[in-house]
This record gives sequence, structure tokens and C-alpha cells, in this order.
Amino acid sequence: MSDAPSVQPSLNEIVSLCKRRGFIFPSSEIYGGFAASWDYGPLGVELKNSVKQSWWKDTVTSRPNVVGMDGAVTTHPRVWEASGHVEGFHDPLIICKTCGHRFRADKINEEQCPQKPSKKPHECGGELTEPKNFNLMFKVHWGPVEDAGQFTYLRPETCQTIFPNFKNVLTTTRQRVPFGIAQIGKSFRNEITTKSFIFRQREFEQMELEFFTHPNEAKQWFEHWVNARKEWYISLGVRASRLRLRQHDADELAHYADDCYDVEYQFPMGWQELEGIANRTDFDLKRHMEYSKKDLSYRDDLTGEKYVPYVVESSAGVDRTVLTLLSDAYDIDQAPNDKGEMEERNVLRFSPKVAPVTLAVFPLFKKPPEMVELAHKIEDDLRLDYKTNYDDAGNIGKRYRRQDEIGTPLCITVDHDSLQDNSVTIRNRDDMSQIRVSVDQLRSAIADQLKEMSKPRA
Ligand code: GAP
Repeated sequence: MSDAPSVQPSLNEIVSLCKRRGFIFPSSEIYGGFAASWDYGPLGVELKNSVKQSWWKDTVTSRPNVVGMDGAVTTHPRVWEASGHVEGFHDPLIICKTCGHRFRADKINEEQCPQKPSKKPHECGGELTEPKNFNLMFKVHWGPVEDAGQFTYLRPETCQTIFPNFKNVLTTTRQRVPFGIAQIGKSFRNEITTKSFIFRQREFEQMELEFFTHPNEAKQWFEHWVNARKEWYISLGVRASRLRLRQHDADELAHYADDCYDVEYQFPMGWQELEGIANRTDFDLKRHMEYSKKDLSYRDDLTGEKYVPYVVESSAGVDRTVLTLLSDAYDIDQAPNDKGEMEERNVLRFSPKVAPVTLAVFPLFKKPPEMVELAHKIEDDLRLDYKTNYDDAGNIGKRYRRQDEIGTPLCITVDHDSLQDNSVTIRNRDDMSQIRVSVDQLRSAIADQLKEMSKPRA
């Protein structure tokens, strides 16, 4: 990798690159946009899918004692009474009587007055209301008659479809405690303030694991998952130096939690939560037992002991992980232009494990046709195993820059010599080095370089 010092980009630079290159677009842009909603474009969806596939493999399919499920976004409204969300899923809301703008009381010092952006809301002269509780759940009509009083909520977290299914999963999979149920899916929260790009949205995706244990073993499993979850981000290529674990103080613990650590990442806007790992005790299963009147306890068939399991939860945001990967990969360094002069280069140093395009294949020129044919043939062959991109537009330097900016680890160029000796050039994104290999050796040379580029970053 290049020795050039790494410069962390601003959030605006990330947003701009995401739009320019097709990672993430503002939702409904042709109608003026829609606050806090974002659409993933062709490269963004590849990045997001890599995150989800990696999480699923690491959490579910590589472990004998974790199974998956995919619950409905909409549930019986009693689920949210049992979970405590109807009563307590609030943020403190303050309204400015002068401009009508709404703010989170607990984040008021991070807010700007929309009319006098250099001032905070309580410094601009506007009159603020007292804080009042604002429930973050979206209430929706349910059924064909709007005023029949039938309603439900869009789930604000995915885990509450796991707890009511505890017995269903237990009996159909023949798992024994300790075991986990994992799920990836959309959640919805009517956030009062939505800033920082995809960091805080009203519609977002979560990856949650609920791991059921004997109460006496919960502490040990909690420690296991805290460490395993931090390691997962490092395995995706996130710099260890920009990750940290932070234990919650007693006064910030959620009502259900006995202990909690956040995995935090040093985003351009500072250290922020990426994921929470909590010991939820037996709170959820007991509450669902109380509200449903169904027995959700577990009988150990070896010891005969009957108990309500404790739950260790790991709750990660897909979108926050995508923002982490973008923030962490984005470097601005120096590269020579066509005249050999050094100029700024934007480069996304994604691990090959998550890069939306792994290999780009170029013919040096569009003629002769044999050059184009060989480039297509190489790409067609590699496409069976890698995410590839064919590009013949513009000079080679511009094509490299384009691939650098979307984070493609390797570019393969077919030139005049290739037609004589069946060799091609492999160009490395990080140090911009080039090697010449015969087409017969191409796959093993690619595998070697990708392996090197997949190593964890400090
Ligand atoms: N089941 C526990 C739970 O939902 P949380 O801390 O409220 O815990 C877990 O959320 C994760 O979900 C967060 O760490 C974050 O990654 C993601 N998340 C929460 N609210 C979000 C929002 N408004 N926009 C994007 N991601 C969000």
C-alpha cells in the first residue's frame, strides 16, 4: 500500500463521491428530495450486499449454534406493548415557537438554528417549548378501512420478531441452549433530527443476533460477542485504530440491559456508535410470556432444569457499516497525471472482500478488434468468479482514476504486446505498481494480489 499519509475526508466529500459514482443518491431527487431518505445505486447495493453476506456468513452459516430467520416488518401491536416501546420508546422533543423547527432536547448543543445557522437553537432568540416525549414508532393503518381503528407499527428494531418465535425456532431446528437466532431487515424510526447522511435515517437496515443462554453463562457469552463483533469490522478491512469499544455507564443503559458495549467508529463527525452488544437478561422473553400468556421457558433435556434463557444481543446497522467502510476506505493521495505531474487522487482502499468491483478489464485502444476481443474474453472468463467491469472509454490514466475512485483493487490491461505474447498488465490500486503476466498465469497472480490486499489494516 502507498506510504502517503492518509487524509480522512469530510462527510460532504463522501456524500459527493457517493452521488458522482453511483453509490448512494438522495431519494426522490427529481421531486426535490425527501428528508433523511437515500437510495442505493449500482455500486452502493454491491457494497451493502457484501456487508450483509459477510455478516450472515460470520454470524450464522459459519457457526453450528446460530440459525437465521426473516420476520415481518409489521406485527401484532401487542408485541410493542410487551417490548416496552409503546410506553417508553421516546426522544425528548423541543419545538421552536418562532420558526416551528423541531429539535432533540438531549442533542440541542449539536443543533443549528435553521434561520441563523451560526447560532444554536437556544442562542438565536427564538422561544423554545419545554421538552416533551415523542414516540419514535411509525403508526400505520392496518386493513382496508382507514377509520376502523385497526393499526400497527412499523418495527423500530428487528429483534422483536425473534423473541415471539423463540419456541417455533427451538422446536423446528432442534437447537439446544446456548444458541442464537439472527436476522437482517429494515427498521423504521421517526427520528426527530436526521443528519449525517446515512448515519441516522428514518428507514434503515439492521443485522441483529439474539443469543439465548443459561443465565449463569450470559456474562461469558457477552464477552465472546463483544470481542467477536469488533473483530468482524477489522476482517472487513476497517482500520483497527479507528475502532473502539465503549462500555455504557449505568445511567445510559437501556431499560432491558444489564451491561452494554458499543462498537464505535471514528467517523468524519467524530466517534459514534456503530453497533451495540447488550446483555438483555430475560427481560424480553419474560415480557412476551406475560403479555401473550404463552410459556417461552426452556427445559434442558440433559439436566431437567427449566428456566427462562438470558439473551445476549448484537445489534448492528447495515447503513452505518456502509458509511464506515466508505469513510475508512476514502484516501486522498498523490498520483502522476498524463504529463507525469503529481496531482491529487481520490482512492477508496476497500478490502477486496467488500469492493463493489474487484477487477476492471481494459483494452488499451478500441482498435484493432483483436485487442477488444481478447479483453472481452478475459472479462467474460473472470466474471464467473469475480465482480468485473469492462471499460474502454477515455485514456488509460483516466480509466485508472475512475476505478481508484470506486475502489477497484486491480485493473487488467490488454495492449499490442498482448496480441503477440498473450500477456497482460495487472495494475494495483494501492501502490499503483504494475506487473506483466501471461494470461495463463492471470488467475493465480490475481489471487495472490487480492490475498495481500485483504490483510487487516492497523
Ligand atoms: N435491538 C437493539 C437496538 O435496536 P439500537 O442501539 O437502537 O439498538 C442498533 O440500534 C443499531 O442500529 C445502531 O448501533 C445503529 O447501527 C443502527 N441504527 C439505529 N438507529 C438508526 C438510524 N436512525 N439510522 C441508521 N441506523 C440506525
